[in-house]
Amino acid sequence: MGSPQDFIDTDRYPIHRPGTSAYDALVAHCRTALETQGACLLHGFAVPEAVACMATETDRVVERAYLCRDTHTVYLNTGESGFPEDHPRRRLEVTELYSVACDQIASEDALKRVYHWDPLLFFLADVLQRRAYYRMADPLAALTINVMRENQNHGWHFDEAQVTTTLMIQAPEQGGRFQYVHNLRTEDEREYEGITQVLDGTHPGIRTLDIKPGTLSIFAGYYSLHRVTPVAGGTTRYLATFCFKDRPGVKNSPEVQKLFYGRTA
Ligand SMILES: [Fe+2]
Repeated sequence: MGSPQDFIDTDRYPIHRPGTSAYDALVAHCRTALETQGACLLHGFAVPEAVACMATETDRVVERAYLCRDTHTVYLNTGESGFPEDHPRRRLEVTELYSVACDQIASEDALKRVYHWDPLLFFLADVLQRRAYYRMADPLAALTINVMRENQNHGWHFDEAQVTTTLMIQAPEQGGRFQYVHNLRTEDEREYEGITQVLDGTHPGIRTLDIKPGTLSIFAGYYSLHRVTPVAGGTTRYLATFCFKDRPGVKNSPEVQKLFYGRTA
């Protein structure tokens, strides 16, 4: 496999051919999915050979991944005083997973080459209607692999970023399912009732996405409450996150680097 283009099923997803009707149709499809469902899944985006290669590359570095254990509210803080204990502003979720940082992934690895492939950046900018879009400059967070072993999970939360782009590399035997409720964040009191139902497991709108190895997911995580259920079985879940920003040169603070990767860079 030579060029990053070979890693992607460009017959199905011609992201490298802007200006063609097939490209325009794909962008339109993605925009509609994001607007109506808050999520766009491109199954088989990475071809099976590339996915296998990425899994092998991850196996090589996974023992160096940093263990992140965190208790947090859905707003990713430690709870706000002034609210009752059972209020969504106070209720705590538990997250435990490992992260492979960007500087632990080799430049020649398939995953990093896809991340640095300009047609992916330009395609996402088109889908998200960004005039300017840049790879994140953070040496740790720009491209990461989220690693979940048996019983690990990601608790319910809203993202800080508007949109997140991920690529599934390896799925677990059971569990590790991505669940969300579309457009729950309303910036007013109404959202609390819905969040309480989600945390209690009684919300009727919880959707589970069928994300397979090779699926590219574009997810509007700021407005949609989401989680990953506990992984079951011996196969580790590997999910890559591609981080893009509206401004060039964006890095996390040393405090955030320390929290998620255990070190600064
Ligand atoms: Fe998230």
